[in-house]
Amino acid sequence: MFIPDLSKIAIPKGPAPLTQMQIDEYIASLTKKLHDKNAVLIAHYYTNPEIQKLAQASGGFIGDSLEMARWGRDNSAKTVIVAGVRFMGETAAILSPEKNIIMPELTAECSLDLGCPHEEFAKFCKEHKEYAVVVYANTSAKVKALADYVVTSSIALEMVEYLHLLGKKIIWAPDRHLGSYIEEHTGAKMLRWQAHCIVHDEFKANALAELKEQHPDAAIMVHPESPEAVTKMADFVGSTSQILHAVGDMPNKKFIIATDTGIFYKILQAYPDRELIPAPTGGAGATCQSCAHCPWMRLNTLPLIDKALDNLADHRITVDVETRERALVSLNRLLDFSANLKKYGSVEAMINARVFI
Ligand code: 13P
Ligand code: SF4
Repeated sequence: MFIPDLSKIAIPKGPAPLTQMQIDEYIASLTKKLHDKNAVLIAHYYTNPEIQKLAQASGGFIGDSLEMARWGRDNSAKTVIVAGVRFMGETAAILSPEKNIIMPELTAECSLDLGCPHEEFAKFCKEHKEYAVVVYANTSAKVKALADYVVTSSIALEMVEYLHLLGKKIIWAPDRHLGSYIEEHTGAKMLRWQAHCIVHDEFKANALAELKEQHPDAAIMVHPESPEAVTKMADFVGSTSQILHAVGDMPNKKFIIATDTGIFYKILQAYPDRELIPAPTGGAGATCQSCAHCPWMRLNTLPLIDKALDNLADHRITVDVETRERALVSLNRLLDFSANLKKYGSVEAMINARVFI
């Protein structure tokens, strides 16, 4: 199997921060500009707080990758600005080809996407034709076009459980940590691609244990893209939106959060009395590359949203028709599966009702 070398990828430096006065001015002028252009802003939880603030002020949306895809598809605006990373823009373009899908920064990558080049992945799938191919949403449109099913972190476990119960052999790509977490919790043995998220991969179990000793009353909340030693220490493991809701549901007042610190904005807005502590990305003497904030999410800035709204053509993200049509099949299975899971309440109930996606 092709093993991606993610130590060589270029990590972009974040732009200089704006002053509070600049942020306020941009939010006021961009709210008006978005309305004037019949455009909406969809932001991921990991974007900087000022981007999330603009999404809220202008009647846009903040969410996880699955919710962003759904909301963008169902909203009537002609122009959708996606503040996130490229795979999120591509997903929106696949689901809504009639809309202008615009990204403030077209070079906002994701290490999982970079770690799964479609030519290598196509070769791998061809060598294992009898397998169902399940890919994480954090992949290019071309990789989604090779897949039978797309999943996001909020539904990956249930989708694999479903396919496993139906007796399917499964290829899983590209996140190795999420893959091993799913294997452990479903009993499915999958052929797993070996990429990782450079943000979550940096969380360290030893340093986390030390931090927990200092805050014994804190619950540990972990995104499943983190290493196994970290998820094993968690009180709760889940996607970004699942972590957000769990903070509200759990009795603790203090939380150690092992995911991108961008999510703190929304958690604290929903639950202002909670204390949030970032999980450590290094032990004694260690350094961090991302330091718990995705370097590509950080590229989404208010000045770039302004620029994109003035030059839609330069910021438009498109997917060629053939790729789009094939990727749409696997993405629609994700949306179908998630709607049925909600309707039936469990994977077993879906199978008992003979719902086959
Ligand atoms: P979610 O699916 O939880 O939004 O996560 C996307 C992502 O990029 C995680 O690193
Ligand atoms: Fe990709 Fe990780 Fe950034 Fe999410 S946080 S977009 S998985 S690099």
